[in-house]
Amino acid sequence: MTTTSLPPSLIATLPGKHYTDPEVFALEQERVFEAMWFCVVRASELARPGRFRTCRVGRESVLVSRSRDGSVKAFLNICRHRGAKLCAEESGEVRRAFQCPYHAWTYNLDGKLVAAPNLTSMPDVDRTAYGLVNVHVREWLGYVWVCLAENPPSFEQDVIGAVAERLGDTGSIENYDVDNLRVGRRIVYDVKANWKLIIENFMECYHCATIHPELTEVLPEFADGYAAQYYVGHGAEFGAEVEGFTVDGGEGLDRIAGVTRDQDRRYYAITVKPQVFVNLVPDHVIFHRMYPVAVDRTVVECDWLYLPHVVEGGKDVDRSVELFHRVNQQDFDACERTQPGMSSRAYAEGGVLVPSEHHIGAFHTWLRDRLEAQPAR
Ligand code: FES
Ligand code: FE
Repeated sequence: MTTTSLPPSLIATLPGKHYTDPEVFALEQERVFEAMWFCVVRASELARPGRFRTCRVGRESVLVSRSRDGSVKAFLNICRHRGAKLCAEESGEVRRAFQCPYHAWTYNLDGKLVAAPNLTSMPDVDRTAYGLVNVHVREWLGYVWVCLAENPPSFEQDVIGAVAERLGDTGSIENYDVDNLRVGRRIVYDVKANWKLIIENFMECYHCATIHPELTEVLPEFADGYAAQYYVGHGAEFGAEVEGFTVDGGEGLDRIAGVTRDQDRRYYAITVKPQVFVNLVPDHVIFHRMYPVAVDRTVVECDWLYLPHVVEGGKDVDRSVELFHRVNQQDFDACERTQPGMSSRAYAEGGVLVPSEHHIGAFHTWLRDRLEAQPAR
């Protein structure tokens, strides 16, 4: 079936090969993940100077750490001497410098080359020029975002703008004070599916009635299949009997002080392309980051953020975490069930989107435009 023969209720998805072809994935790495702002780490994980985390952004390994002046710095995790990977660990702490395990070139927390065997006999080697390669960094909502492009796109437009576009203004998310919340739980999911299946799933709620019994119990309007993301500024309202955003609808944790009456008892979901989902409820924030690893594999790191005294006081967040943990498992199971179908001849031309999923078509158009455009350098 071709796109032109579709009835008006349906629009086409991307063809199956967009979810299975390593060449498409390589292009996405270059033109999406390495070109856009990419959220890498919760800033509180870099509590002290010398604390670091490494993560993959597109095809690169990036080293993110806190320097002596308290600012966060990010570098390509590659030694400038002969290219060894500088930090092999996913996270850790150094006292004052990163030392390459190969020939011991040593870089301070600002990335400057400060020592190397026989360096004093090479006075012509500029220690800044041969320092680590810097990557652009921003901090927002208590997370560190990096951009590998030489000239990054506007953070205000691409990241903050995406949130404003969904919520209707920039102020609404500030009420949740996401910067100052604490990580009450983190769960990492290794999903055997293409990253776009996860985004597409998050953007629609046509599946909610089928696979999310607990969520539709708490948010009855989700049973209609119209996701909260469908309408600008709309948050799905809790059911009349529901006390909190928990697995059984029982009472939640202490409400975030800035949450307004309009926002209370509502759930807001936001997609920040290409790899972040933010979920806002009155007493916590659920923050997903996707790390696309391969064309058919995506690691998703999900944080449940609560008021500081909730986490530090050791309050029981289990029933609160359990609701969205189940939602995540249900969603990721569905994505994994879909991934093998992407290489079937039945899906060579792709599938279809029903009216409550039509906004996913805008995501596909956006992606196609990016992949066809010349890379931003
Ligand atoms: Fe790092 Fe030689 S490759 S010191
Ligand atoms: Fe879902």
